[in-house]
Amino acid sequence: MAIIFNEKTKTFHLYNEDISYLMTILPNGHLGNLYFGGRIHHKEDFSYLLELSCRPMTSYVSDNDQRFSLEHVRLEYGVYGTTDFRHPAVEILQKNGSRISDFVYRGYGITDGKPKLDGLPATYTEDPAEAQTLTISLEDKVTGIVLELLYTIFARGGIITRSARLVNHGKESVQLTRALSLCLDLPDRDHVWIQFSGAWARERHLKTRKLEQGIQAVDSIRGHSSHDHNPFIVLKRPNADENQGEVLGFSLVYSGNFLAQAQVDTHDTTRVLLGIHPFGFSWKLDPGDRFQTPEAVVVWSRKGLGGMSRTFHGLYQKRLARGYWRDRERPILINNWEATYFDLTEEKLLAIAGRAKECGVELFVLDDGWFGARSNDRAGLGDWTPNLERLPDGITGLADKIEALGLRFGLWFEPEMVNKDSDLYRAHPDWILQTPDRHSSQGRFQYVLDFSRREVVDCIYGMMHKILRSAKISYIKWDMNRSITECYSSALPADRQGEVFHRYILGVYDLYERLTAAFPHILFESCASGGGRFDPGLLYYAPQGWASDDSDAVERLKIQYGTSFCYPVSSIGSHVSMTPNHQVFRKTPLHTRANVAYFGTFGYELDLNRLTDEEQKIVKEQILFMKKYRRLIQSGRFYRLRSPFEGNVTAWMCVSEDKREAVLGWYRVLNGVNLPYSRLYLDGLDEELPYHIWVDGKARDGVYHGDELMRAGLVTSDSACGEVSPDERPGCDFDSKIYVLRAEGQP
Ligand code: DGJ
Repeated sequence: MAIIFNEKTKTFHLYNEDISYLMTILPNGHLGNLYFGGRIHHKEDFSYLLELSCRPMTSYVSDNDQRFSLEHVRLEYGVYGTTDFRHPAVEILQKNGSRISDFVYRGYGITDGKPKLDGLPATYTEDPAEAQTLTISLEDKVTGIVLELLYTIFARGGIITRSARLVNHGKESVQLTRALSLCLDLPDRDHVWIQFSGAWARERHLKTRKLEQGIQAVDSIRGHSSHDHNPFIVLKRPNADENQGEVLGFSLVYSGNFLAQAQVDTHDTTRVLLGIHPFGFSWKLDPGDRFQTPEAVVVWSRKGLGGMSRTFHGLYQKRLARGYWRDRERPILINNWEATYFDLTEEKLLAIAGRAKECGVELFVLDDGWFGARSNDRAGLGDWTPNLERLPDGITGLADKIEALGLRFGLWFEPEMVNKDSDLYRAHPDWILQTPDRHSSQGRFQYVLDFSRREVVDCIYGMMHKILRSAKISYIKWDMNRSITECYSSALPADRQGEVFHRYILGVYDLYERLTAAFPHILFESCASGGGRFDPGLLYYAPQGWASDDSDAVERLKIQYGTSFCYPVSSIGSHVSMTPNHQVFRKTPLHTRANVAYFGTFGYELDLNRLTDEEQKIVKEQILFMKKYRRLIQSGRFYRLRSPFEGNVTAWMCVSEDKREAVLGWYRVLNGVNLPYSRLYLDGLDEELPYHIWVDGKARDGVYHGDELMRAGLVTSDSACGEVSPDERPGCDFDSKIYVLRAEGQP
């Protein structure tokens, strides 16, 4: 890995074994991009990559040069209105009403490692040798604003992280009305755009389209990253697939309003923009102030979508997630939400916990409804004191009882919200986000606390701290169940109202930071009505997130498959729930519910007392299986084999670091009759190693080499293909199998 600056040609070259990133200082002092992609040899001069041309309808920067227009070069942080007409990365409203800026190169610095970003989550290094950071400073002379562009290249993998910092060294205040994290201009439009979109209970479904001239974008202006879109997009070459071909992944380490956009201009250059959504955003920068954008992470891979995903997984698992739980196997939990909803008593909870313990569960999580007057969703939010009618010995007593059963205890909070029917709201009606003289809309009968205010965050911290200190609590589920409307803070002046959305998220991060620092052993799981804030920002504080409120095994195939493009298996909260399922009312077999949930953090979302003895026996076996394989599943390499978006069969597998062991999930939504013979071409194995195979725990005859399984394939034909095998049970709708592969010994 190296970062080289060539004084003569004014070229920066960041490279490691996988990638090269080349920039140059343009004739007007702006920073231009020359290349980003697979590693190329270093040389002094790459100026031929700057294509300067004279074309009709072009405006030129200087009187003497009929070729240099910002419109026709690739810019590192585009500005609008000084010959470039693409959407810009930055816009600054000045006192005289002008929005023009002109950021001219001033200098650069290179440091080992990676600096922290003020108040924001970001990837990090543990050893300075893991990465190098280049900071390039540019100045707009008229306003005195200095723009610092930060680039980190990691020693290993095709990873570049970027962010921008704007510092006001001038004499007058300005309003930033746009400050994105990344602007990357690519030389052509020969890409397929992939986004991960959906809705509540249908999160992160994969959608693709060919890039065309014009703008394609996904975004959120809901105050959270949202169920609708994820702050993650992919541009892949049309010939790239799971295993090969050039792919670029763009991910934003942020949990609030975002924009991810690709603009293909008239000459087929593609500009990618990623960062805080400019809609509704402004930030007043007084003299001396600075503004730091969130971090954007770009992964380049020549090993297709799978290669890109595994690079994200490694980075986000080891250098974004932090703390005690980062590298630990996740506890198998039981959550009472779908078992009781609000209808809970201590007796019921202990009955659920007791049975769960007998089956091998490790952690009991008490969900919504334990506090204040919270017997339904109209009251109690904000009053984080135990409801002693429901829990006579409080949380302290219940936690002790759960611990006495031999389980750990976890608790649900929704720290950012308040019901009007609560003591907190009655004491502080001005603490919610609300616009003066306007109606306030409710969502699930709740209102959003103004987390842009320090005293509000302090108060919630105080209440949570007290509970956490008072009881043996090992886990927190942090929920967030509505989007922000009528966004306005009574604590900020008129010219700072555009800051509220971002300040709100900074408040959320601040509370997370303080709680995780005060209680480093607590495992945090993020949640926002399921997957409404499943983003890298929260992964920094909470190493796992409840991926979706949809716990149906078939629906989960798409949700977990889509999620896996950016996020590691260890971050995907996944549970076995009751049948018929509570969201889609589908009846799926118990084995399939577990076979899907294994590829995540794994747990149960039901009352095991309601299962038959035979089913409870199966649950015990499932838990034993997960205990045995969770390290491999949660920290192995993940390979997608068959997409639920393309057919009736889904398959994926996790392979251990040393390639000696693998666990594979195979799922068929509808059973068929007289189907074609079927095979899966496996991935990630060692070509040379002979593997033994177990199907649903039963040994299959023979030994199979890695090359054989990857090229000739694993035969998955079964009774639906006419195959009569005494070992295998007959197939059914919503069927699935787990294959275990081991290079030696017994599973
Ligand atoms: C939404 C979450 O996603 C559910 O799992 C549950 O915690 C409810 N909120 C509780 O209100």
